[in-house]
Amino acid sequence: MQQLDFQSHSLMQDMKKIGPNLKDIRLKLNKNWIPVWLKKPTDFRPTTKMPNFRLNDQQIRAISAYIWQSSFTDPLPKQKAGNAEHGKELFETRGCMACHSMGEGSEVEGGVFAANLSRVGEKANYDYLVRWVHNARQRTRPYCPLEKKDIGPEDYAKKGLPYVFDLEHSTCPNDGHELQVQNMTVMPSLRLSEEDAQDVASYLVTKRDKDPSSYTDASYMDDPQLKKEGEKWVRHFGCAGCHEISGFENEGRIGTDLTVEGSKPIERLDFALFTETALRGGEPITDKEDLARLPEGPSKDPWFDHKGFFEHKMAEPNISTRVRKTTSRKKKTPHAEPAPDETADSVADDFPARQRRDFPPPSYQYKPGDARKDIQEGWWVVKKYNCMGCHQFVPSQDTILMGLPQYKDIQEQLPPKC
Ligand code: HEC
Ligand code: HEC
Ligand code: HEC
Repeated sequence: MQQLDFQSHSLMQDMKKIGPNLKDIRLKLNKNWIPVWLKKPTDFRPTTKMPNFRLNDQQIRAISAYIWQSSFTDPLPKQKAGNAEHGKELFETRGCMACHSMGEGSEVEGGVFAANLSRVGEKANYDYLVRWVHNARQRTRPYCPLEKKDIGPEDYAKKGLPYVFDLEHSTCPNDGHELQVQNMTVMPSLRLSEEDAQDVASYLVTKRDKDPSSYTDASYMDDPQLKKEGEKWVRHFGCAGCHEISGFENEGRIGTDLTVEGSKPIERLDFALFTETALRGGEPITDKEDLARLPEGPSKDPWFDHKGFFEHKMAEPNISTRVRKTTSRKKKTPHAEPAPDETADSVADDFPARQRRDFPPPSYQYKPGDARKDIQEGWWVVKKYNCMGCHQFVPSQDTILMGLPQYKDIQEQLPPKC
């Protein structure tokens, strides 16, 4: 199982970035919402997985300008209005809630695999939502991994070709190479008709606490000067590690590669001036604000080990630089606030356990080459796509859908057990 987790972890990161594709934001988002989101994502979605970077207002303006101006401007097909009431019914019965939750505070219902959609009507526009719900994999422009750029109608026109791209039409007009014609997303197509997708989107746009037009005007986002400054910050904060962003096709992740972090000798972990405290036990944190961010109160136990290091590092990312101000390396770890189900504790637990690359030695590892390998690989596909949100795969395993009130009396209508 460890081996499986390890594989799915690295493959998912390679295949799909954790956050949504930001090349689409001009088509998708309420412009004035973007700076508000960047200021503090958890203010909008308490359970979001997007880190809080604690950006200052100038950085927010510049970054917003960059991602806005570098996004696609292709027009979206206009959709006719749908029936929100029918949309609500579809949303609650077509399995959306196996992955998404709805409601705020104590009213939350549904899965935690994907975002809570309670306020999606404040951020996303209707035409885009229809397309997304109908087929989340629909890309705005095909991407050429060889040229590292998105291909547009003009590239096709130059060769006298019609601008058509899908799984059957995936050859680059410029160089004959294979194009990426779909959005890399884990969200499945639930095979809703165009009308049903309109109904669901009509329901979703009603999900909001305030009117989208009540967001403060952010027309500065069109300033080309700000865009230039923003590019610098987007690079600095490593946004492209989690998002597809135009102009950042060559960028990798900025953080240290953590794959083998768990097998680093303890001396190579940067305890810095806290080595003593860690050996003795107790907290190195002094000021009140930092103390409040710790997952638990001060402890007396020694924490000079891998788990202790990761725990403290996550509670206070700048732990090794806070006192030792003279360090030349810039620390960029954002002060991410872990989602409730991802406490620093559980993440820290994982590092030493599953990331020791040389232990056990390869000859002791379970690496079948036959059909058992297919079973292994199948398991992490199942996990990646959250199949278990809808299907019972193992006896006695509960699915998210089973727990929803709308299925209480109609258990026979649940998806088939596998
Ligand atoms: C198997 C899990 C799964 C199911 C089922 C699912 N989604 Fe999603 N959904 C996701 C994931 C994952 C994302 C984030 C996609 C990304 O970042 O590429 C997402 C994103 C979204 C978004 C964008 C949210 C935002 O704030 O930008 C909307 C809207 C949405 N889904 C609606 C739906 C609707 C409506 C249904 C049912 C018809 C549905 N989803 C079913 C996994 C799922
Ligand atoms: C650790 C990964 C990660 C990093 C780094 C990251 N983001 Fe995100 N971002 C996410 C996730 C995950 C979401 C979706 C969260 C949700 O909907 O709750 C998101 C959502 C967004 C959205 C909303 C997009 C949409 O379609 O709804 C914007 C805009 C955004 N991020 C911008 C940025 C910028 C700018 C940076 C750099 C300063 C950045 N992100 C860095 C993970 C990340
Ligand atoms: C959003 C809920 C949902 C998710 C997520 C989901 N399924 Fe399904 N699946 C269904 C429903 C509903 C049916 C029944 C469809 C029908 O009868 O037309 C079904 C049918 C099936 C069937 C046919 C079973 C039978 O007895 O007829 C298989 C196999 C299957 N799904 C596998 C998967 C796998 C593998 C995944 C993950 C990659 C997955 N499903 C994800 C809802 C879901």
